[in-house]
Amino acid sequence: MTERVVLAYSGGLDTSVAIPYLAEKMNAEVIAVAVDLGQGGEDMDTIQKRAIECGAVESVVVDAKEEFAADFCVPALRANALYMDRYPLVSSLSRPLIVKHLVSTAKQVNGTVVSHGCTGKGNDQVRFEAGLAALAPDLKVVAPARDFAWTRDKAIDYAEAKNLPIETTKKNPFSIDQNLWGRAVETGFLEDIWNGPTEEVYSYTADPAQPRAADEVVITFAGGVPVKLDGRALTPYQIIAEMNARAGAQGVGRIDMVEDRLVGIKSREVYEAPGAVALIAAHMELENVTVERDLARFKRGVDQRWSELVYDGLWFSPLKDALDALIGDAQKYVSGDIRMTLHAGRAVVTGRRSEESLYDFSLATYDTGDTFDQSLAKGFVQLFSLPAKIAAARDAKHT
Ligand code: ARG
Repeated sequence: MTERVVLAYSGGLDTSVAIPYLAEKMNAEVIAVAVDLGQGGEDMDTIQKRAIECGAVESVVVDAKEEFAADFCVPALRANALYMDRYPLVSSLSRPLIVKHLVSTAKQVNGTVVSHGCTGKGNDQVRFEAGLAALAPDLKVVAPARDFAWTRDKAIDYAEAKNLPIETTKKNPFSIDQNLWGRAVETGFLEDIWNGPTEEVYSYTADPAQPRAADEVVITFAGGVPVKLDGRALTPYQIIAEMNARAGAQGVGRIDMVEDRLVGIKSREVYEAPGAVALIAAHMELENVTVERDLARFKRGVDQRWSELVYDGLWFSPLKDALDALIGDAQKYVSGDIRMTLHAGRAVVTGRRSEESLYDFSLATYDTGDTFDQSLAKGFVQLFSLPAKIAAARDAKHT
């Protein structure tokens, strides 16, 4: 039987070479699927044509920009999702959506196998295959880079031997993955973790050290979802794209870190996520104003667990669904405006206002008009500290 392989196609060298290679090796028909997640770069029509020129029997392009923004980036924002307190899950968010579209294409074209270009050393293979296991357990998976030990040099030789219409001479030292939520850069000289990133590593952000005028933005949220910038109603995609441009122009959102991969390796990653970093800072602050203390404290742990699950490829999993329910409930009153200054690599909140604010001026003020009854504090403090006081007395007996 001829296998029908549905390939996650980026248009780059590795997945382009995979088309004739899989066709030959598996005696298969290859259907290429390129998903637009707002990564910019090459035109999607060019990518679509290239797959056919490389031998795909069909080439599908999916415009998933709004879907990615609304159903993946916004949930990450509501979870203030930062893996290891820093990484806004750029690649981690995109794989489950690519999987969704691979699966729906496979249904339409009677696909029997799904293929992706990941190596065996990274997180992305896990995200693809854990997602497939949940959504379409009957589809087989093949990852040529991992399963047939493909290397870049092999891919270049093969592309030249087959005369494939792809650039093989351009030497990009980095492995780059980018989408609307940010950009990840690894390998090359960055693998020496003492080497600092040079300016050419970056493309979403300007050098934060260059002098320039500050930008001020007012972000409006409704139920934890960003809905306006400076009073203009926009879609989540438009908001994230504009924040990328404005915060990026101020050098906001550069992250250089060593991170713990799921496969056990520590790896050096350089990210730039100007929109994500600014929006998360704004959202966190609006939560500070509108979410009750204990719920807010509990949610910080939930946010962290949510980020780890998504990083680990478990987007489609029961715990992730349950945490989404809690996070969703906590967003009920996260509505209002945050004013921020974007400047010199930082996104700093300077103002907040909300109909749902729990900030009570008359309780907080040190000026006249104070309604806080300080006489209640004395007994409260004594009872609050009672357990520690008793334990300290017991400790004293043992010293
Ligand atoms: N380390 C990040 C993650 O696991 C980014 C991976 C980016 N992938 C790439 N091919 N450069 O989410």
